[in-house]
Formats: sequence, structure tokens, C-alpha cells
Amino acid sequence: MPRRCGAFGPALRSRTAGSQDESRCSAIHKRRWRTARRAPDAFANLAVYVTNSAHGFFVRHALTKPKILSTRPLFPAARAVLDQHFEVDYWTPAERITRDGLLKRVADKEGLVCLLTEKVDEELLGRAPKLRIAATVSVGYDNIDVAACTRHKVAATNTPGVLDDTTADFAWTLLMAIARRLLEGDAWMRSGTWPGWDLDQLVGGDVWGKTLGVLGFGRIGRGVARRALGFQMRVLYSDAVRAPEEVERELHAEFVDRDRLFRESDFISLHVPLLPDTRHLISRENLEKMKRTAFLVNTSRGPVVDEAALAEALENRKIAGAALDVYEHEPLVNPALLTRRDVILTPHIASASLDTRTKMAVMAANNVVALFEGRRPPNALNADALGMK
Ligand SMILES: NC(=O)c1ccc[n+]([C@@H]2O[C@H](COP(=O)([O-])OP(=O)(O)OC[C@H]3O[C@@H](n4cnc5c(N)ncnc54)[C@H](O)[C@@H]3O)[C@@H](O)[C@H]2O)c1
Repeated sequence: MPRRCGAFGPALRSRTAGSQDESRCSAIHKRRWRTARRAPDAFANLAVYVTNSAHGFFVRHALTKPKILSTRPLFPAARAVLDQHFEVDYWTPAERITRDGLLKRVADKEGLVCLLTEKVDEELLGRAPKLRIAATVSVGYDNIDVAACTRHKVAATNTPGVLDDTTADFAWTLLMAIARRLLEGDAWMRSGTWPGWDLDQLVGGDVWGKTLGVLGFGRIGRGVARRALGFQMRVLYSDAVRAPEEVERELHAEFVDRDRLFRESDFISLHVPLLPDTRHLISRENLEKMKRTAFLVNTSRGPVVDEAALAEALENRKIAGAALDVYEHEPLVNPALLTRRDVILTPHIASASLDTRTKMAVMAANNVVALFEGRRPPNALNADALGMK
């Protein structure tokens, strides 16, 4: 039998359904708990929520589980968490939920588990007056207007940390593949036209011993740098914030300004979040600064790269190649990139190992559970703004 108690910050209080004092809360709780133990079936859906604040406790009890919407069926492990606590409306069709469908289905929900493809903005929040949490199954949260969530007293959460190594592995997969012309070789073999070994076939760029430039030296950027140690590379990084000295030492990474990173790197790997000041960070002007032999790898967010400028730079041989997992206007790709052999394109799968995607979904589910149990969701992006303890 579900039984939930806990503490909400004062800013969330207005979204609770009722209020009582602490002793009454505890009396109700004990009475229902005793009764439910005598007749568990009758109380199968009983839930008790308690909120606290500096001024005391507030209780809300309901005979039904809170309703939440999940825009994907997720993975069994995450469903097991959600189903235990909530009445979950899972969007199950293969095609993505439409914006209209999303607005309609979220209207009566108290929680939302969404993907990076769903925008949680002023419009959605206005249409979902009962909503108390929006949990995106991604570390990047450019799909969520966190300030608007705060205005609507809705907690916003993401899934940091669990995907770092999987994403770093994939950035390296792309880096190796573009440097060593892996896909061109594969296509040639499958075409049945390979005439046999020759000295100058598909000669690419070396990876070992070269200079790696990491733009955005956070969790994933550092993972990418760590992997470069095994390739005896020089690592340069640029970030809005300089990393602690011990991290620089451990990863043999040198903090440089962006210009130097563009000019000296043989590989540039992007790991910044999408923000107003990182949009089109890879611009025509910055592409001009890169070495003609350099490769660009993007596993961050598509709009960090100006795709038109990238296509032009490749066409004019300003850089040697690019490997992209993310796109400016997903799911579309700039047609000028589609036909190029010096470009590798993957469908936004950098974190897509079964283990990691499962962990991300479970993490999002646990954030929602935490909020309804009155705990601060572990990955709340606006906990302080909402006054959560
Ligand atoms: N392709 C994928 O499937 C995939 C998977 C995981 C993450 N991502 C993307 O990768 C991004 C990074 O993830 P993370 O977990 O490493 O995040 P993080 O917050 O740990 O690191 C981001 C780093 O970028 C830096 N930064 C922010 N603004 C900057 C600026 N203007 N200039 C330079 N540096 C700046 C931050 O200081 C921070 O060190 C996510 O935001 C997400 O968009 C994509």
C-alpha cells in the first residue's frame, strides 16, 4: 500500500490540496495506516502527503495515486518505480507525441516525465495548473524553461552524471571514426569494388600524439580528456570556469582561451550546454581559425554549431572533417552535410547504451517520487529558487 509523507518547500505549498496541523496530520496518518493494515484492499490507492514549512505541517491525503504523464514508455526498471507510486499515463505509440497531444494529456497531471524533444515552456505550464514537477530524461535541459517552471512553482529536474562515460566513449567513437575514415572504408567493402590493399588508400589523420581541444570541460568533457591520456595526446580545454588544479594535473589538461584552442587543436570536441552564448559557438569566424587538418566532433547540442557555416568550411577545405551526433534542427540535417564523405552523422545516440538510458529513466522517476514524498528531488534545477530544503 502506498504511503507517503514528507516535506515540501514553502513555494510549493500553494499547490497542495489542503492543510492541517502537525498533530492532526500524524493522527490521520496513524489512523489510516492502522485501518489500511486491517483492510489493505480497501485502501490500495490511499496516499497521504505531508508538507512542512517553517510554520508547521500541512497534510494532503487522497484516495487515488497522483496522476503523471510519461511521454515514453521508458524502461521496465523506471516503470516499476513510477507504477508503484503513481497513476501513470504512458505515451506508447512509436511516433512522438505531438505538441497538441502533449498539452491535452498534461492538463490534469501533477507530474511529467519528458524527453529532450518535449518543450516545457510558459504555454505548457499555463495549461497544466496541477503540475508540480517536470523531469526530463536527459542531462541537457534546454527543452525546459526553468525560470518559467519556478514562476509556476514547478520543480524541474534532469539526469546528470549517469551518462558521462557512455557519452565520452561515443565522442571518442566519432573522433576515431572520422580521423581514420571508418565509414568510407566500410562502404567501400560493402560495395564489392575494393581492389585489394594499396599504399595510399583511405589515408586519414593520426589520433595518437595529436592535440585534443575540449570545449566545455564539465563532466563529459573531462571524460573525453581522460580517454586522451591513453593516446598520448596533448589536451587543451576552454570553459567558462577554470577546473581545479588537481583536475588539470590528473588529466594533463591545459586551460587556454578559446582562440588558442581553435588554432592549435587537431580535434575539437564540444561539451558545452546549449545556452544563448553557446548557440553558434562554432561559427564561420571560429571555423576559419581552425587548422585545415583539424576535425570537429559534436555530441553536445546541435545549435552549438552553425551547420551552414560548417558545410561551407568543409566545402572550402577549411577543416578536414566533422562527426556530428546532434543537429541544429533535429530531426532534420542540413542537406549540404548529407552528401559529404568527410562528415559522419549519427542520430543523437551518444548516451544510448541500454544500461545508461535505463539509469537515466530511473533517475528521472526517482526525482518525481522524491518530490511527492516531500523530499528535495536529487536533481532539482530550481530547488533553491523554490525554497526547497
Ligand atoms: N549527444 C548526447 O546524447 C548527449 C549526451 C549527454 C550530454 N549531452 C550534452 O552535453 C552537455 C554537457 O553535459 P555535461 O554533463 O558535461 O554538463 P556539465 O554541466 O558537467 O558541463 C558543461 C560545461 O560547459 C561549461 N560552459 C557553460 N557555458 C560555457 C560557455 N559559454 N563557454 C565555455 N564553457 C561553458 C560549464 O562551465 C561546464 O563546465 C549537456 O548539456 C548536453 O546538452 C549530449
